[in-house]
Amino acid sequence: MDVELYDKITEAVTAVRQRSKNEPMVGVVLGSGLGAFADRVDNCVKIPYRDIPHFPESGVAGHAGELLIGDIDGVPVAVMAGRVHYYEGYHMQQVTFGVRVLAGLGAKKLLITNAAGAVNPTFAPGDFMVIVDHLNLTGDNPLRGGNDQKLGPRFPDMSTAYGADCRRALHEASRKVGVTLREGVYAGLAGPSYETPAEIRMLQIIGADAVGMSTVAEVIAANHSGMQVAGLSVMTNRAAGLSDQPLSHEEVKEVGERVRGVLCDLLAATVACLA
Ligand code: HPA
Repeated sequence: MDVELYDKITEAVTAVRQRSKNEPMVGVVLGSGLGAFADRVDNCVKIPYRDIPHFPESGVAGHAGELLIGDIDGVPVAVMAGRVHYYEGYHMQQVTFGVRVLAGLGAKKLLITNAAGAVNPTFAPGDFMVIVDHLNLTGDNPLRGGNDQKLGPRFPDMSTAYGADCRRALHEASRKVGVTLREGVYAGLAGPSYETPAEIRMLQIIGADAVGMSTVAEVIAANHSGMQVAGLSVMTNRAAGLSDQPLSHEEVKEVGERVRGVLCDLLAATVACLA
């Protein structure tokens, strides 16, 4: 770990606090194309990532790249609309910087979302899955290197990485909104190529229900920071080899757009249930 990381986080937190005094209770990390969630944030102050020192900006289209500070149903939140990915070439420390800032701003809970391929053959595109656990298959770890005790312990426990209370909050919110939720294990890979059918068969054998290219690093950093995590995956496609069609980013985006409204409802309701 970069020894100056704590100072960088402090500088970023200070810059955000100059724009908004709101102390978030819940931090939210949105997957691609969810900029519309901003409409759900009351008294919303939008801070472009470029205005926050050390905050990495994404080159991926559809990632707005701004921090939204405000309230949802009276609950103070900080929302990352846009995130950077390991496959873009960022280091794990950059990938997790935003989550560190959310923790630094005071958020005790993290609600994190992603688009994922359905590895479990009973899941279908458009399904939502509560993440109950993950497999970090990226081959890297954001905590590799020296540890700064000010940020967290050297060897953080990951046995309840996605806490029971947070999972309950997602289920409670799903009942309010009227959507069905699956539960399962998320396998996080480095990407950016999609998996081969053989890799998907391997993931099934080792216990994955969904596969994606984000989230695991952020969740490790969140646990290191002492945050409780609620994780939600949107199945945008059947994983490689499980359908007769080739995988395409277009399909992933299309399904993402189709469920966007319901997902925004579910996330807003979850914030209320997490408080
Ligand atoms: N594999 C990896 N990442 C993904 C997928 C997939 O099938 N779908 C959406 N993100």
